[in-house]
Amino acid sequence: MQTCSTKGAFRRAPVGSCRRRIPTVRVKAAVNVEQLKALREELFNYINSRGCNPIIVRLGWHDSGTYDKNIAEWPACGGATGSIRFKPEIDHAANKGLAIALGILAPIKKKYPDVSYADLFQMASAVAVEAAGGPKIPMRYGRKDASGPEQCAPDGRLPGAAHPFADGSVSPAEHLRRVFYRMGLEDRDIVVLSGGHTLGRARPERSGFGEHSTKYTAVGPGASTASPSGSPDRPVTPKPVGQLGSSWTVNWLEFDNSYFREIKSKRDAELLVLPTDACIFEDEAFRPYAEKYAADQEAFFADYQVSHAKLSELGVEWEEGAPVTL
Ligand code: HEM
Repeated sequence: MQTCSTKGAFRRAPVGSCRRRIPTVRVKAAVNVEQLKALREELFNYINSRGCNPIIVRLGWHDSGTYDKNIAEWPACGGATGSIRFKPEIDHAANKGLAIALGILAPIKKKYPDVSYADLFQMASAVAVEAAGGPKIPMRYGRKDASGPEQCAPDGRLPGAAHPFADGSVSPAEHLRRVFYRMGLEDRDIVVLSGGHTLGRARPERSGFGEHSTKYTAVGPGASTASPSGSPDRPVTPKPVGQLGSSWTVNWLEFDNSYFREIKSKRDAELLVLPTDACIFEDEAFRPYAEKYAADQEAFFADYQVSHAKLSELGVEWEEGAPVTL
């Protein structure tokens, strides 16, 4: 068959009709389930092989954690809108270091153009938890993206970890309640989501917290183990460069309830306890949840699934036909 010589995407025209070029419009499915499924599979392997689970979880949380339930307009309300990809927001002090996570996901995003950034960030975070041995989060997809830098969330909506708190709170517990209640979340969510710190590290060069390195970060998670997760069936992380930071847990690429056990016992000065971590055992209303999760990993996982799914949908405006599950 003879075809028109064209630039870009054009339909084949019948022979002899090359002057009438008929442009094809690439119809973007509102929610491309096939791409979402393929992306999910690719993320699983990619995140685990790089051992970047913690920073990816933090990226998802910092995108959605800007939500303000008191603002009706979207996307001014903030939340899981993908707006963290734009310069004004990624440059917020609370997001220091997270440009690395955007860079990690950038080559993957190119392969799945129909998937929104908001879906990508939330999917990657849920996958990162599961791939580290955590629970499967009941995720839904079809989030709309904020479309430009002017739609970024204002600075100051994410929580601080220690005094002085920008909102004038006198205690870490008061501060956490102000921030998480503004998102429409409650005490149980605050405590169980703090368990996200079972993964990862804090570095002086990013948040200002943590040591330059500890015995758990200098040689990889699990101190003397060769595997990043402390489990032999997961690959070894390439040795990171720069400041290695302090972790909250020994095996900081393993998602389990050790965060609650370590915060409760404060047994090891080489493990990090931020004031906002400590308060989950100090505040009377937080403590029962923290005790429960320290004693019972299944209970932690069951509640974590629910709260993480809520977090992933804060402020979301859905595409037509969404939300979808995979
Ligand atoms: C409760 C209020 C919270 C505060 C004050 C807080 C504070 C912090 C700080 C200071 C860091 C260190 C960042 C760095 O130096 O690179 C950090 C890291 C981290 N946070 Fe939180 N966070 C909170 C809640 C959460 C939640 C809800 C999650 C997820 C469910 C989460 C997941 C993480 C992870 C995975 C890291 C490690 C990142 C890495 O290793 O690169 N955090 N957080």
